[in-house]
Amino acid sequence: MFQESVTLCPAHSSPEAASEKPLRVGLLGLGTVGAGTYRVLTRNQSLIRARTGRSIAITMVAVRDLARASAVVGREVTVTTDPFALVTHPDIDVVVEVMGGTTLARELVLKAIAHGKQVVTANKALLAEHGTEIFAAAQARGVSVAYEGAVAVSIPIIKALREGLVANRIEWVAGIINGTSNFILTAMHSQGLGFAAALQQAQAQGYAEADPRLDVDGTDAAHKLSLLAANAFGIPIPFAQVQTEGIEALDAADMAYAAHLGYRIKLLGIARRSAGGLELQVHPALLPQDHLLAAVNGSMNAVMVKGDASGVTLYYGAGAGSEQTASAVIADLVDLARGIGLAQALRVPPLGFQSGALKELPPAPDAASAWYLRLHSMDVVRCTAAALQALAQAGVGLRSQHPFCPSSHHAPAALVLLTEPIHTTVLRPLLQRLAQLPGVVGVPQAIRMSNLDSTPAARWQHS
Ligand code: HSE
Repeated sequence: MFQESVTLCPAHSSPEAASEKPLRVGLLGLGTVGAGTYRVLTRNQSLIRARTGRSIAITMVAVRDLARASAVVGREVTVTTDPFALVTHPDIDVVVEVMGGTTLARELVLKAIAHGKQVVTANKALLAEHGTEIFAAAQARGVSVAYEGAVAVSIPIIKALREGLVANRIEWVAGIINGTSNFILTAMHSQGLGFAAALQQAQAQGYAEADPRLDVDGTDAAHKLSLLAANAFGIPIPFAQVQTEGIEALDAADMAYAAHLGYRIKLLGIARRSAGGLELQVHPALLPQDHLLAAVNGSMNAVMVKGDASGVTLYYGAGAGSEQTASAVIADLVDLARGIGLAQALRVPPLGFQSGALKELPPAPDAASAWYLRLHSMDVVRCTAAALQALAQAGVGLRSQHPFCPSSHHAPAALVLLTEPIHTTVLRPLLQRLAQLPGVVGVPQAIRMSNLDSTPAARWQHS
């Protein structure tokens, strides 16, 4: 009988029945994200319960510092300094891993899975580096590992890829997916700050990772890009394939020159599938200033996705922050409380494990790129003539050349050259040659010109 086979979702159960079985959550870590998760769950408790049909209660936290815990959580929460006691505790349904790191976090997450716990994590490094092992373990044990907070924190991009865009063959995913580096680039552009001063501001605002090198050298963005690519293309997490460049070598002067030429410099993550294979890149690039991603400033993130049916779609929101990440972590908890992720049939499978063994896409051959080249020279007239000759000898086409006046008699002038697309095998020796030209001061700068979709759908002036 049809009626006999129907099981009411928790959301349709009576409130009395629902209140008997809260989802019991154990929190590993009470830092920025952990404290934010506790705060938002507590503040919006009745609203979340009404929407979910079930209470979500943090019943246990594992911390290093007991004194800090008592300042954050209420007395109803059991506090322990033993994270293994938490992940194996029989009264915990879901383990939320927000402690960071990849060694202990991996061990704890695998232990939690082995004990049949659902897992929610915001730890992109953990999943980028050990996700294949973790998802396979979860699949074998019949539990979920949810990670909306790991990618572009407040933006529900994992859900968008798995659910909203599920009908599409995804052609590419691209975006600004590190809040700290975007904050730094924005401060360098709008305030003329140097890199170090802008990084200090980002750290003071609490956006940067514990080790900010991961933010500025592009690794954090590469972690997130590999999770996006795995979801978009149904492939094993391709972190090792991402070609990564950071923003440490950028100069505020280049922001100003680029702005004068109609561009903004952004750290982009790009995952693109083509006939030649999979292109996976994190690097700074000049974007036309009317490109939608060029308007993403401060610590904000944005992800663009091109589906064969949907066309270009854009997702925008906070890319870092305590409650911003908590918003995504709690969304995963609500899915679990509603039963999504618990029943095999309803579970949104992690990263394409539904189709059995995942197939890797081969790396695409190195694509040619147009470049922004900048030289500082005390003799810009001779330098320009010699630079043009060097480009011609290397067979590099020139789109345009732009001299910029020195700020004083004693300062060098700048020469900016925008090239036609070339391969890096041509670029590297060319840069060495340019560094030796007459009067050149310092190391020549080279930044890619973005080759992202620049059709009207990706621009502000959409007619
Ligand atoms: N440090 C990260 C960022 C935090 O700046 O994007 C969110 O992942």
